[in-house]
Formats: sequence, C-alpha cells, structure tokens
Amino acid sequence: MSSSAPSRPAAATAEWWRQAVVYQIYPRSFADSNGDGLGDLPGILSRVDYLAGLGVDAVWLSPFYPSALADGGYDVADYRDVDPRLGTLADFDALTQALHARGIKVVVDIVPNHTSDLHVWFQEALQAGRGSAARERYIFREGRGEDGSEPPTDWVSTFGGPAWERVADGQWYFHHFAREQPDLNWDNREVHEEFLTTLRFWADRGVDGFRIDVAHLLTKDLSEPLPSKAELSAMPIDGRHPLFDRDEVQEIYAEWRALFNEYDPPRTAVAEAWVHPDRVPRYAHPDSLGQAFNFDLLLADFDADMFRQVIDHNLDLASRSGSSTTWVLSNHDVVRHATRYGLPPVGTLADAAERVDGEPEERAGAAWLLSRGASPELDREGGICRARAATLLLLGLPGSAYLYQGEELGLHEVAEIADDQRQDPTFFRTEGAEIGRDGCRVPLPWTAEGPSLGFGSAAPHLPQPAWFAASAVEVESDDPASTLTLYRQALHLRRELQCGEELAWEQTGRDDVLSFRRPNGWRVVTNFGTQPYPLPAGEVLIASGPVGNGILPAQTTVWLAPQAS
Ligand code: NOJ
Repeated sequence: MSSSAPSRPAAATAEWWRQAVVYQIYPRSFADSNGDGLGDLPGILSRVDYLAGLGVDAVWLSPFYPSALADGGYDVADYRDVDPRLGTLADFDALTQALHARGIKVVVDIVPNHTSDLHVWFQEALQAGRGSAARERYIFREGRGEDGSEPPTDWVSTFGGPAWERVADGQWYFHHFAREQPDLNWDNREVHEEFLTTLRFWADRGVDGFRIDVAHLLTKDLSEPLPSKAELSAMPIDGRHPLFDRDEVQEIYAEWRALFNEYDPPRTAVAEAWVHPDRVPRYAHPDSLGQAFNFDLLLADFDADMFRQVIDHNLDLASRSGSSTTWVLSNHDVVRHATRYGLPPVGTLADAAERVDGEPEERAGAAWLLSRGASPELDREGGICRARAATLLLLGLPGSAYLYQGEELGLHEVAEIADDQRQDPTFFRTEGAEIGRDGCRVPLPWTAEGPSLGFGSAAPHLPQPAWFAASAVEVESDDPASTLTLYRQALHLRRELQCGEELAWEQTGRDDVLSFRRPNGWRVVTNFGTQPYPLPAGEVLIASGPVGNGILPAQTTVWLAPQAS
C-alpha cells in the first residue's frame, strides 16, 4: 500500500468530523526543531508528510500556548499566543497552511475552566485585592477560623492536596487542579466575552475545530454555606451538583455554537466531559458542542463482552444526540493501551469504575491504571498484540477515531522515569503515591540513533528508554509487519471503506469473538479469545496479526471486504 494520501472526499463537507480519524499531538513531545529538548510547532511542520502518509483526517494539538508547564500546558498564561519555546503565531499559521494543503484539518485545545496563575488576569487579581473586579473573574473566598487561616472547605483537588490556596492578603482561591490553575468564575460576563474572543481568534486563523478541556466543570454554585467534602460527594450529579456537570453549562455552549455556526464550514467542537453517560448527549447535541468524547474503552479490558457493551451503549448515546461517537484507546492522560492490555485484566466495567476512588476524571488514569504502569506483571508482546487487535476493531467502527501520538508505533508506557525527572503535578501533589502521566508523554522516537532518537538534537525533556529505538518511525517504516505499517494501511483502507454510521452484529457462536457488518458489507471480526477461530469466508483486507490456513488466531482482528451480491 502506498503511503501517499488518497483524496479525502469527506474533508470537503461540513460534516467531515463525523467519521474522521483525529490524531492527537502533544506538541512538547512530538518533534523538536531547535534543539532545546522541547517539541515545537516547526518540529510538527517538519513532519506533516508523516501525518499525511499515516492517513489522518485531522490533527488535534494539545495546548501550545504560553505556559509555565505546571500541568503540561493545561495551565495557559495567554490563550491567543504561542509559547515562545514552541514557536510563534507565524509558525502556527504555516503549520495550519501545510496541514490544510494536505487535506488535514486542525483542532486546537481550549482550556476554559482555569487559567495559569501567570495569566495577566490572575496577576491583576493578586494585585487588586479583596472585593475588586479583578478578583471577581476567579473564585476567591475568605477562610474559616478566627483569622481565616483555614481553607473555606476541606475539598480535595483532582490532582491531590487541598483545592484552595491562600494568597498574601489572606483570601483563598479555588482550583480544581493544581494550585497554578485557578478556576475562572463563569458567573462573570467578562469571562464569557474573553473566551468568545479567543474562539474567534483561532477560528479566524483557520482552525477547523476545538477540543474543550473539562467541559463539564465551568459553572459552579458556590453559594454559602459551602458543603463539606463528604456532603459534596454524597450529592447526586444530576445537573444541580455544586461543582460538576451543572445544567446551565449548556448556556455557554449554546453561545459558542452560535459563534461556530457563523463560519463556513461551521467550526466543530468535542467535549471532554466526564459525566454520567445519560448526560453525554447534552454536550454532543448539535445545539451544544456537537460531539463528546467517549472514554469507556479506557476502562475496558481486552474483552469481547466489555467491548460489545461499550460499543452498543455509545452508538445509542450518539443516536440520542444526533452526533457521531468518538472512540479512544489512548491519550495524554492515561497509560498507553499496549501497556494496559499487557497487565492483568480489570474484571468488569463496573469493577473498573468501583475500584477507583475519587472523581470520575481520575478513573481512567491517575488512580490505579497509572500505578499499574510500572507493574512487573507486564506482558509486553501480548499487550501489543491485543492493542493492535483493539485498534483495528476501533477503526472499523462507525464514528470518529481519536489516536494519540506514538500509538501507531505500538509504544508502551514508559515506567522508568526517575522521580527527579517527573513533571506531572499529580506526582508531586500526591507525594509520589501516583506516578502521574509522564509515561505516555515521552518524546517520540523517529530514528534508531541520535541524542534523542531523531526527536531533536539535544536530550529530550523527558528521558526516552533504550527500548524506544526499536519502535522508531524509521525502523517501523521499513517493516511490513510493524504496527506503523498496520496503522498506515488501516487508515488508508478505512477511507475507502467508510460508509453509513450503522453496524449490524453477526452471530459467531463464541462469546469471545465479535463480528459486525457495516452497511456496505465491510466486516470486522475480532477474536478476543486465546483459541483460534475459523476465519469467516471473504477477502481478507487487513489483519492485526498473521491469518492464514482458514484460521483467525487468538487476539486478532481481521477486516473482510464487502462481497459482491
Ligand atoms: C484534562 C486534560 O486532558 C488534562 O491533561 C489536564 O491535566 C486537565 N484537564 C486539567 O486541565
């Protein structure tokens, strides 16, 4: 199969996103053009042909804005600029142009729940003092106790440690995440106007879509008396919870949708919303953001029953909103799926959810999956085999597929990062109890040699393990059996095969084998089991492992061509 990109008919339509393959780039770890150890926008520009050859429809750039990197760039100091270490606005424009020239759409990350503490607004708030308009943009409160030295509540932040931080004049501010990420006050109209300006700024620059960070957290009811942590966690999350998924957050997105629809084609958005599944369609509705992430596969084992439940449930949710669903196996917040599938199974989806303490946000990543990333029980080869099968199944599903940089190389999580090289605030705020998300953010290996395996000319900002060399792009490019070759071929075939957004399950006679058919007759069969399965009749288009002699081996997916009737 050639690595040149075929035409992208869907790219021309307003609904390009419905079944798009979106490739997530974590810019600081993709490619470093200037030898400072940090990936940058010119680095991405130098790799656009790689992205086109891979066959992706869109690129989602995690934050590249000025940031002190207290949370890997999700602490934004200026929403309408590029971090000077990552380039300039002119570099951004050049990158957008180069991607568009190859038919690849551009999605940027918007972080509206909190700013960086270095944002000019927060600096003004610190200077301006109590009762000022500048403090009204954030959530400041007096402390408890006679001298106010106790935080307003005993709430715990998502990254561990207290959710309130005291400033010099004695007031406290609220932060869902790290203390360098003060939450904005979405009851303040100025905050709304600021984000409308930001969205327009990027949309005018040609950005095609937005990924909305923690979209369910923006609005809060912090009227007194504030509940305790225990009271808070006993409250149902039904649209009226003080902190999560409040009904009125949709008013913000209705306003954003009106802005998106002023553009031709309308700008798209996808919500990162960790909410009850029944409430996902609110965010995915065409009057709201239009699409929402479905993270259920991050919780599932490589297990036929779990996959089928997740697929059925999410196709149903998508049809309720009129959107298409989004499939995700890896991202910058969770242990890479090759590693998850190399670890002992979870049990059931309910077990996975129950075994995790804390907020839903933590379920897939920070709580226990991460602690397993360093497990001695890791079966590296088995993990990759299952990851390849799961990916090929996912790419056969209706809806859009979100891929995370490096998964196309079959990369494992990097567990061996020394404590003094870790960057993730979860590691520091839990005093090392959670190792954090650095292991999936290690810079990509492009070549088998060199100071940072082709990432750049200097040591990378997170250390690459020696075993990364064997998975370098240059190594895998020449190997017909590599995971990179599998992704390239699958993405190109998918573009030719993609059709209506339906799926019909077929009988397989085995609980551990799933088979479905798409409207054009394209069939996807996955053997999740440990025993071979008779290969169904039909022309084999691609398989995640060696198929032959009428056998679909254990833990393998195959695509079968539509049959002429
Ligand atoms: C979700 C992002 O995916 C994660 O990386 C970040 O730490 C939090 N939101 C806070 O912005």
